[in-house]
Amino acid sequence: MSSELSALVPVMFGHAAFQQLNAGAELGLFELLHADGPLPAGEVAERLGLSRRSADVLLLGTTALGLTTVTGGEYRNGAPIAAAFHDGLWPVLRDIVQYQDKIAYLPAADYVESLRTGQNAGIRHFPGTTRDLYSRLAAVPGLEELFYRGMHAWSQLSNPVLVAQGDFAQARRVLDVGGGDAVNAVALARAYPSLRVTVLDRPGALEVAEKTIADAGLEGRVETYAADIFADPYPSGHDCVLFAHQLVIWSPEQNLTLLRKAHDAIEPGGRVLVFNAFADDDRTGPLYAALDNVYFTTLPFRHSTIYRWMDCEEWLRAAGFTGVGRTPSPGWTPHGVVSGCRPA
Ligand SMILES: C[S@@+](CC[C@H](N)C(=O)[O-])C[C@H]1O[C@@H](n2cnc3c(N)ncnc32)[C@H](O)[C@@H]1O
Repeated sequence: MSSELSALVPVMFGHAAFQQLNAGAELGLFELLHADGPLPAGEVAERLGLSRRSADVLLLGTTALGLTTVTGGEYRNGAPIAAAFHDGLWPVLRDIVQYQDKIAYLPAADYVESLRTGQNAGIRHFPGTTRDLYSRLAAVPGLEELFYRGMHAWSQLSNPVLVAQGDFAQARRVLDVGGGDAVNAVALARAYPSLRVTVLDRPGALEVAEKTIADAGLEGRVETYAADIFADPYPSGHDCVLFAHQLVIWSPEQNLTLLRKAHDAIEPGGRVLVFNAFADDDRTGPLYAALDNVYFTTLPFRHSTIYRWMDCEEWLRAAGFTGVGRTPSPGWTPHGVVSGCRPA
């Protein structure tokens, strides 16, 4: 049998690979090894309250995947997990793993159905009759908090490229359209002490946002504004409009509508910024965008997808923005910012 077929193992068992990571996070294996490792399997079993059989199965899984390593019968965290702890990113990654487990995982099994029908078939896992995930969050107790904990983590992981945008040094007041729990608004306000930010979102999201803002002590500079991003007018007085993890949800036509609304709302000379993950212009990758697209295809909305940089740049030009450009993230996720200017 051809040895090339072995490349199928991590793909064929992709769901199982995720479950090894999820179990290590959920059961506290990585935290235990970070605090007290290296440890023998018997002690891992005892400290995690698992049978020896369960600990052996888990450690085989995490070790074969490089999430843990073993030397002389003692286990420690593998390079990617150790790096996450070293960089202070473990709590962020743990929240992302929980998001994948509790929100994205079951709907992903509806991928074939979603491709066949062109619908986000995985939304059936969340009660409601509306067609997008966000308007269904409030129907399940605790789901809004769970969703925004995960979304907060995705943004925290990827928003350094947004915060580093030189544009904010000149901006006075940002409108964060669909700003969620205010994770990006707070990061920007912290980085630019004279900047004011308005977070526009649904009332349910803004309840979570108000807590984030209060926890950061930024009530004076970050405010909330309840509105529908399509149906309601945008508030005036902003010289920058931000769409963070927003244009990946909607169709190209809807994105053009949103960008035209932004163009009308921004003061002349102001800027629009689109921040999210992007796919390569030649549609060959990156792997992160290709795999994350299963979530976008099955869950948020029937048109959700990770678009190419060039698609977004074309929308900005079509909406009347000039000086359109892109800033890819230097990090390991394919996030970046596409920006444009409303002519003065
Ligand atoms: C993927 S989340 C992004 C949140 C935040 N910008 C971030 O990057 O973490 C999309 C946000 O858009 C909001 N949203 C979706 N549809 C909306 C609508 N019709 N009106 C207002 N907000 C909406 C959701 O409530 C949610 O907070």
